[in-house]
Amino acid sequence: MSKQRILSGVQPTGNLHLGNYIGAIRNWVEGQNQYENYFCVVDLHAITVPHNPATLAADSYTIAALYLACGIDLTYSTIFVQSHISAHSELAWLLNCITPLNWLQDMIQFKEKAVKQGENVGTGLLDYPVLMAADILLYQADKVPVGEDQKQHLELTRDIAVRLNHQFGNGQTILKLPEPLIRKEGARVMSLTDGTKKMSKSDPSELSRINLLDPKEAIAKKIKRCKTDPVRGLEFDNPERPECHNLLTLYMLLSGKSKSDVAAECIDMGWGQFKPLLTETVIQALQPIQEKYDRIMASKGYLESVLREGRQKAEAIANQTLAEVKAALGYSQPL
Ligand code: AMP
Ligand code: TRP
Repeated sequence: MSKQRILSGVQPTGNLHLGNYIGAIRNWVEGQNQYENYFCVVDLHAITVPHNPATLAADSYTIAALYLACGIDLTYSTIFVQSHISAHSELAWLLNCITPLNWLQDMIQFKEKAVKQGENVGTGLLDYPVLMAADILLYQADKVPVGEDQKQHLELTRDIAVRLNHQFGNGQTILKLPEPLIRKEGARVMSLTDGTKKMSKSDPSELSRINLLDPKEAIAKKIKRCKTDPVRGLEFDNPERPECHNLLTLYMLLSGKSKSDVAAECIDMGWGQFKPLLTETVIQALQPIQEKYDRIMASKGYLESVLREGRQKAEAIANQTLAEVKAALGYSQPL
């Protein structure tokens, strides 16, 4: 039997942080040998909020290099840049025309991001989930590994696929319905400065997140300054102590220890003892990623060849699906 297919992506906006790593990329890496995987750098999504043209291309390369540095293995996985394959934009347009406007207006992420943009909300921000649906449906993906915040976008993707199949499929399935793959632990890594808010690239405070490429000193400083509480003895799952739960979870996931071992180890600890332990664990976990990243970035030709081959492989599948959708909608063949 052929392997199930996975598709996922991250936007090249800012640096990747521990939330992106733990919520998404680490899970891609762990499961990759069981699936046929496609991982894209979603640079078309990156311009749905104001962006800097001078850094967009370099940021996309950085993210692709980080995929490799985190352990994406080209034996099992294909890495490519979304904007290099025009089928993404084209399918997004076709899907736009069958997606009711009110489905998009209900998206939580749109509402949150729109508030931050004030008067200046672009149409692309509203349309963002349709482009995401196109990314996924073009590859007929079975599973989409993401953090918790993307669950609603996955449900929308399924709704769009159902609608297209129903309206234009003539009883056939044109687009496969994808399943989200969301891990229980670490699907929502919280900010270091507020344990009730998720760690995010767009938080104005650098102290709120640890980036994968942060030097040791920055990691130490951020953990030293992170928000805690005055209670001694550390515990998971106490809703009154969101920071405590978040920091213990980070320690658990990055050290590889079990939840019960961490709970037992930290039950009598104070923050003064725990913070250096967490700092050391984060530094140890990120060091091999940073070293590999530096090696990859030193060889731009290699990265370009990865993205060139990735595009060729991905484009063949994307174009096939696009042709099927266009035929179902009644378009003539290009002459
Ligand atoms: P983005 O940075 O918005 O492109 O997100 C890329 C991936 O990281 C998506 O799968 C998100 O669900 C995931 N992600 C982003 N922030 C977090 C977070 N704080 N905790 C867990 N996963 C996250
Ligand atoms: N919207 C996703 C995020 O910000 C990024 C994304 C775009 C994506 N297209 C995708 C994730 C397709 C998974 C599959 O996190």
